[in-house]
Amino acid sequence: IKTLTPVNQGPFGSELSLTLQVQKHLEPFRLSLEKLQDVSARLRKDMIRGLGKHSHHRASVKMLPTFVRATPDGTEKGDFLALDLGGTNFRVLHVRVLEEEQRVLKMDSQICAIPQDIMLGTGEKLFDHIAACLAEFLDSQKLRGQTLPLGFTFSFPCEQKEIDKSILIRWTKGFNCSGVEGEDVVNLLKEAIHRRGDYDISSVAMVNDTVGTMMSCGYRDQSCEIGMIIGTGTNACYMEEMKNVKRVEGEDGRMCINTEWGGFGDDGCLKDVLTEFDEEVDKTSINPGVHTFEKMISGMYLGEIVRLVLLKLTEEKLLFRGCPSEALLTPGSFETRFISEIEEPDSGLENAKKILTKLDLDWDLVDACVARLVCDTVSSRSARLCAAALATIVNRIRINRGLDHLKTTVGVDGTVYRKHPNFSDELQAAVRLLAPKCDVTFLISEDGSGKGAAMVTAVAQRVWACWASPDDLFHCRVTL
Ligand code: GLC
Repeated sequence: IKTLTPVNQGPFGSELSLTLQVQKHLEPFRLSLEKLQDVSARLRKDMIRGLGKHSHHRASVKMLPTFVRATPDGTEKGDFLALDLGGTNFRVLHVRVLEEEQRVLKMDSQICAIPQDIMLGTGEKLFDHIAACLAEFLDSQKLRGQTLPLGFTFSFPCEQKEIDKSILIRWTKGFNCSGVEGEDVVNLLKEAIHRRGDYDISSVAMVNDTVGTMMSCGYRDQSCEIGMIIGTGTNACYMEEMKNVKRVEGEDGRMCINTEWGGFGDDGCLKDVLTEFDEEVDKTSINPGVHTFEKMISGMYLGEIVRLVLLKLTEEKLLFRGCPSEALLTPGSFETRFISEIEEPDSGLENAKKILTKLDLDWDLVDACVARLVCDTVSSRSARLCAAALATIVNRIRINRGLDHLKTTVGVDGTVYRKHPNFSDELQAAVRLLAPKCDVTFLISEDGSGKGAAMVTAVAQRVWACWASPDDLFHCRVTL
């Protein structure tokens, strides 16, 4: 669809001139290979800054130590609870890890809605709500009375002191609850459970969703040492050499680092890559100036970028005869899933027509083709930027290990990666170009935020059991 089918001369001049004018507006989204290499080089510098003992305070790419130093070895077992907050839904799960069969079973799970007023209310309310959902789940599963360990997938940037002490640095995506930033999330959860006083939990392991994803894939493929999410938000973690993690004592082995690459660009280093539409999305978001890279890539923002481009083209009289509808003028009305639907190879054009009708737009065939081109351009940029970031990580791992060639696996999850028809292909093709000395396999995670979190808890339990105190987890030298 990149070239529009010729149609008769319309009110806007020739088809060719329309195409050229549309292309002019889309040009800033097209990033050349050189530009992507340049973006990757900037991220490499920021990652080093984030790892540094003295430089990490001012780093926009936080590179947070996760205290996960071991991946599953197949001897883990037991029953676990898992909480998953920060993706599309809030979930509570009961997970069983079977040693003999080396399998992780999801026994049951429940989705609980988090209403908008709770997402933007007080922290106390949020954690009371979480504790109430957990109580309801324990009752439905007849688990009340058992004190199970809990893996908490909390998909926000946290400064982790230990596996069970996790200070929220800041909210991202749609959350903004007061009184949580700067606080230990494990404490807030335990306090809420104690306020109820009708059940208890044992140890808590805090897990970022990227880490859960890496761990759940690590159980299937031992060479999985990167976890990546491209969903509501975007982020990645990977196994870094301890000697490079200057903020944590110890030189041996590796530790999983949560990069929080969504914050890349927050210091202004991506100014030349940002379009006027990205700036608008940022300005109208609940956290302006924060998570710049994420806002160019992830599901929470892609639909809005497309809406703003369509609106601009309408104002320029290049779409819908210059008439926007109320719906098109309404922020958030163009959902990110529309992009995937419009880009479907077979039904895409038909889907585009249906969606434009739903948005009350007076469209013709050329409009539908242009809308498709806009979706394609915005999602391609997202895939290529993600590829640049992932290439930075795989290139770093290769150089860290002094290898001419690296073969590695990335565990991936997230609605954008899973649901978009050609996102994964574009991303993988660009990674091949940007990391030519690395052979990267992509493994879709099977519920990293649920089973993966239980896996992290199980590994922590195993390691806790064989060392005197949780602090020793820190010294435990189990490497990939
Ligand atoms: C946001 C969060 C990060 C999470 C990502 C994907 O970027 O800050 O912690 O991993 O979204 O959910």
